[in-house]
Amino acid sequence: MSDCIAGTNAVGIGSRPDPAEFIRANMRIAAVPAIPEIRLYTAHPGSGLRRLVEWNQHATEEDGPEPEPPYWAYIWAGGAVLARYIFDRPETVAGRRVLDLGAGSGLVGIAAAKAGASAVIAAEIDRNGVVALGLNAAANGVAIATIGEDITSGPPPPVDVVVVGDLFYAHDLAGRVVPFLDRCLAAGIEVLVGDPGRTGLPLSRLRLLAEYQVPDFGDAKGETRPSGVFSFEPKDCCHRLKTKSLG
Ligand SMILES: C[S@@+](CC[C@H](N)C(=O)[O-])C[C@H]1O[C@@H](n2cnc3c(N)ncnc32)[C@H](O)[C@@H]1O
Repeated sequence: MSDCIAGTNAVGIGSRPDPAEFIRANMRIAAVPAIPEIRLYTAHPGSGLRRLVEWNQHATEEDGPEPEPPYWAYIWAGGAVLARYIFDRPETVAGRRVLDLGAGSGLVGIAAAKAGASAVIAAEIDRNGVVALGLNAAANGVAIATIGEDITSGPPPPVDVVVVGDLFYAHDLAGRVVPFLDRCLAAGIEVLVGDPGRTGLPLSRLRLLAEYQVPDFGDAKGETRPSGVFSFEPKDCCHRLKTKSLG
């Protein structure tokens, strides 16, 4: 990820840029490959995102943890495939309350809002990401409420559907997300996952609904990879199905 944040602008120690001003000035708004219905602020080689993510290299503990790479600035296959699925099957979200968990740019939540969700909440831990998401939502003419903290250790908010785009990229994160999604299922919430097969993907809990070829961040221009949209299923689902078929 380090080369993706390399820019030509110097880091101004102690002078954190205003994230909204920075994004408007240094990123380009462009249609998303495979999702032409949505335009997002997107990073390019001259964006100099380092100035946003490393502004506090001399910060104290009170300033909070080290900033994460700016995942929100890029298009991920898992989000792209889920957004495509939502546009192709708007009934998945129409009239329903949606939580976009690990929302990043907001691609999936924006797709849900445009497809007729009655309300969309986006949960994103990166504060620059929360700002980008707000700008992206506005640029696409939709309203999205944001939660700028990790909600995976608590109860799910009152929604009907949780959409999870490309959030299984690390085992420790997957280890927190899966129990949260189990609490969602227990609360009667449907859970949809979009993913190209990242390292922490809980395959034994997933049922494939659709597959698309979509571009992924870091791939060569014009390249695509197969990525799936899955339903996250209860733990004993396969056992129950087997028992049923044994009659
Ligand atoms: C690979 S990006 C995918 C973004 C978006 N869902 C998409 O598909 O375009 C993962 C995002 O999840 C965020 N994230 C990681 N852990 C999180 C957590 N516990 N709660 C909320 N967001 C989280 C990261 O900051 C990052 O923006």
